[in-house]
Formats: sequence, structure tokens, C-alpha cells
Amino acid sequence: MPGFADNHRNGNPSDAGEPPIVQVRKVTKAFGSLVAVSETTFDIRRGRIIGLVGSDGAGKTTLLRMIATMTAPTAGNVLVGGFDAVRQKDAVKKLIGYMPQRFGLYPDLTVAENLDFFMDIFGISGRERARRRERYLGFSNLLPFLDRKADDLSGGMKQKLGLACVLVHEPRILILDEPTNGVDPVSRQEFWEILTAMRRQEMTILVATAYLDEGEKCDGLVLMHASRVLAEATPAELKSGYADLEEAMIQRILQVDAALREDDFGI
Ligand SMILES: Nc1ncnc2c1ncn2[C@@H]1O[C@H](COP(=O)(O)OP(=O)(O)OP(=O)(O)O)[C@@H](O)[C@H]1O
Ligand SMILES: [Mg+2]
Repeated sequence: MPGFADNHRNGNPSDAGEPPIVQVRKVTKAFGSLVAVSETTFDIRRGRIIGLVGSDGAGKTTLLRMIATMTAPTAGNVLVGGFDAVRQKDAVKKLIGYMPQRFGLYPDLTVAENLDFFMDIFGISGRERARRRERYLGFSNLLPFLDRKADDLSGGMKQKLGLACVLVHEPRILILDEPTNGVDPVSRQEFWEILTAMRRQEMTILVATAYLDEGEKCDGLVLMHASRVLAEATPAELKSGYADLEEAMIQRILQVDAALREDDFGI
């Protein structure tokens, strides 16, 4: 598979010759008889923003959790920065920042205390704490709200604080599961400005999203449906021949559903 090697928008990929930073190899995850992710293979090269899009229940969260070392594949393997996500979990954890679909901030702690909590987990101490607090809360425009309880933040501010918390150990790869779900358009735009700024600093970002305007901002898209990857392409490639990205996705999903029904009924 091409792995988006030639699709970098900056036009100057500095990773030529490097192996992909994320390699998903024939990965399957089953929960009993339910197959959530089926024989999935794709690569992500460094410094790209890759959007994971698809239907509800497609397997996006399960796939992200396997890359983030939160659950092990039933078959196949995931390599992150060359490390195996099961056998070398600790090495992988150092490389990634993972923001789950329901990211848990501590509602009764302030903005500063939430960030401090994550810095404690990662053993960040001394002058480095102040530097990182300035940097990551500054990035997310939260410095004026240091003493506000997380529970009293708006939805968009909560998500930006969540992002600051997963950035604070300075990972090389961000794995974000629908980070802007339910957030207003202006806040979503601000959130994406942070992501594109991170990409300029060579961060690799894999982000599940239900918003196709966000999909348009990605260097590459992975389209999932019914536990499988249907397409791995740039936004322009994916929508080519269709009115827009939404139409392209709907039509591809309907085609797969029709094929699955034919299988079921043996037509
Ligand atoms: N721990 C689990 N035990 C049993 N089934 C699970 C588990 N986690 C996920 N599933 C099932 O696996 C399938 C894929 O779920 P997953 O959460 O990965 O989908 P998704 O694409 O993230 O969906 P959404 O867009 O709604 O977030 C679903 O049928 C779900 O019910
Ligand atoms: Mg999900």
C-alpha cells in the first residue's frame, strides 16, 4: 500500500527512506464472535495528519486503541516507531499521546492542576514543568484560565485542555479519537489550527473524526466501514468522481453494504 508517501502537502517530505512511523499489519480484533477490526493494513509516514473516517461502529476506536497499546490485536501486529505495540508497550507509550473518545479530565481540579497531574505521571519536574505549562497551555489559549475548574470550561476549552494534557510529555505521535465531537465550529477551527501547528513541527497525527470539513484538512484519509478499511487516499482522491467527500463516503459505504447483503442472501 502506498501509505500516503507522496501526498505530503508541504511538498518537502523529510522522511524519505525512513520506515513509516506507524505500521498496521493484517490486524484483526475480535470480541467473541464480533469482529470489530478485520485484517487491516496501512502505514502512516512521519509528519502527516491522517484522518480516520467512517460509519458509526466501523471499528475506528478499536483500531486507535490497538495503536495506542490499550488493547492487543487478536491477530496481526502494530509497530509504532519500529516498536511492537504489544511486546514493547512501554517504548510505544513514550512515543504517543492518546486522547480517547471520552477523555477524562478531573472536573474538580483546575486547568493548572489537571496539567500538573499529567506532568506528575510522566515525572516532569523542576524548570521543565514551568516551560511545558507555558507552552502547552499557551498553545491552547488556556493560560488566562489556570485557576478555573475543568468542569466550568466550555466544551471546546475542555478538549483543548485534554490536548494539552496528552501533549505535555512531548510525544512524536498524536492519536485522537473524535476530539472535536460536539464542539462549535469556531472552537473546532481553533483546535485544528493547533494540530496544523503541531504538524509543522513534524508531529504525526492520526485523528478519528465525524466532521468531513476536518477530513478535508488531512494529508490522507483512512475510510472504515464494517470493520474494514475501504479506502486509503488523499481527500482529493477519495472524492474524485463524486460531488463531495460526504457523497464519496456514502456511496462507497452503500456499495459495501449491498455486497454484504448479497453474500448474506446468497444472491
Ligand atoms: N470492549 C468491547 N466488547 C465488545 N464489543 C466491542 C467492544 N469495543 C467495541 N466493540 C464493538 O466493536 C464494534 C466497533 O466499535 P468501535 O467503538 O471501534 O467503533 P467506532 O468506529 O469507533 O464507532 P463510533 O463512530 O460510534 O465511535 C462495535 O460493534 C462495538 O459494539
Ligand atoms: Mg469510536
